[in-house]
Amino acid sequence: MATETFEKVKVLIGEVEAAEPGNEEELEQFRIKYLGSKNIIKPFFGAIKEVPNEKKRAYGQLVNRAKVAAEEKYQSLKLIINSNNEEKGMGDLDLSAPAEPIEIGSRHPISIVMNNIVKIFERIGFVVAEEREIEDDWHNFTAMNTPPDHPARDMQDTFYLKDSTERLLRTHTSSVQARVMTNQKPPIRIIAPGRVYRNETISARSHCQFHQVEGLYIDQGISFADMKQTLLYYAREMYGNDTRIRLRPSYFPFTEPSAEMDVYWGLKDETDYRITKGTGWLEILGCGMVDPNVLDNCGIDSEIYTGYAFGMGIERQAMLKYRINDIRLLFENDIRFLRQFASAR
Ligand code: PHE
Repeated sequence: MATETFEKVKVLIGEVEAAEPGNEEELEQFRIKYLGSKNIIKPFFGAIKEVPNEKKRAYGQLVNRAKVAAEEKYQSLKLIINSNNEEKGMGDLDLSAPAEPIEIGSRHPISIVMNNIVKIFERIGFVVAEEREIEDDWHNFTAMNTPPDHPARDMQDTFYLKDSTERLLRTHTSSVQARVMTNQKPPIRIIAPGRVYRNETISARSHCQFHQVEGLYIDQGISFADMKQTLLYYAREMYGNDTRIRLRPSYFPFTEPSAEMDVYWGLKDETDYRITKGTGWLEILGCGMVDPNVLDNCGIDSEIYTGYAFGMGIERQAMLKYRINDIRLLFENDIRFLRQFASAR
């Protein structure tokens, strides 16, 4: 009887040592069988009372060996299986897979056209000047020879800041002229891109916010001819080498004489007729010789210095370039609209 029990325990130990649970489920089966509350080793501990006294000690040690073997086996297999699982988790992660594409967006058509314009002028020595959008009345109007009650103020319906008659959203980038001239000595040769605001009804053709690029050149002996040649250079760089321009007399309080510049757009199709009102000519900017009053207002001696200035709208030119028929599209930031300019230059 006793020998038989001894043998059974030895077989059990052999079983434990040979067991090879390969996954979590099999390991759990192993645990229940050898280590659980109803494990099959337990009864052998109970059987010790049937073992003759002189063999009890050896028997006890043997059964204990079975238990320890089961525990050791369980712990070591658990480690192996857990680390296998971790590796499998890593296996799902393909380190050689191409990275998720990062959406970097694209330039807004206004920025593209504005950058183009700026680059054209930078090539002939103009330097970018940027200034505030919230201006005071003096820099936007008074310095620019447009005192209070001047009828020309009506040309530019102004947004004033709440409870203020002094602070306003600049109505044109010409305010940058006043900022620069009061801060720098001639020669001055700047190009000033930026956003401007006017209290206008929003429609397909006009908006309460838009963009301009201002140009200003002050030095001794600057003439209208210099201005005309510079603007011709601009038009040809922007619209092609055979572009034609024309200057029409106009009026601005801050320039004298003043002009508006048209480029010849042609009459190739219906749209050309519509946007040029049947003339083929398209106005793109206002310009003129800086009024001596403006120079004096800004502390530049008008007896010594002369200069020219121009201001052009960006939206109109962007709409022409990209054939956009509604100015509002430029401010809605609809991603489907903006995506189309991903590769535009
Ligand atoms: N500031 C004028 C406008 O907004 C444009 C302009 C600028 C005209 C400079 C002459 C000289 O209409």
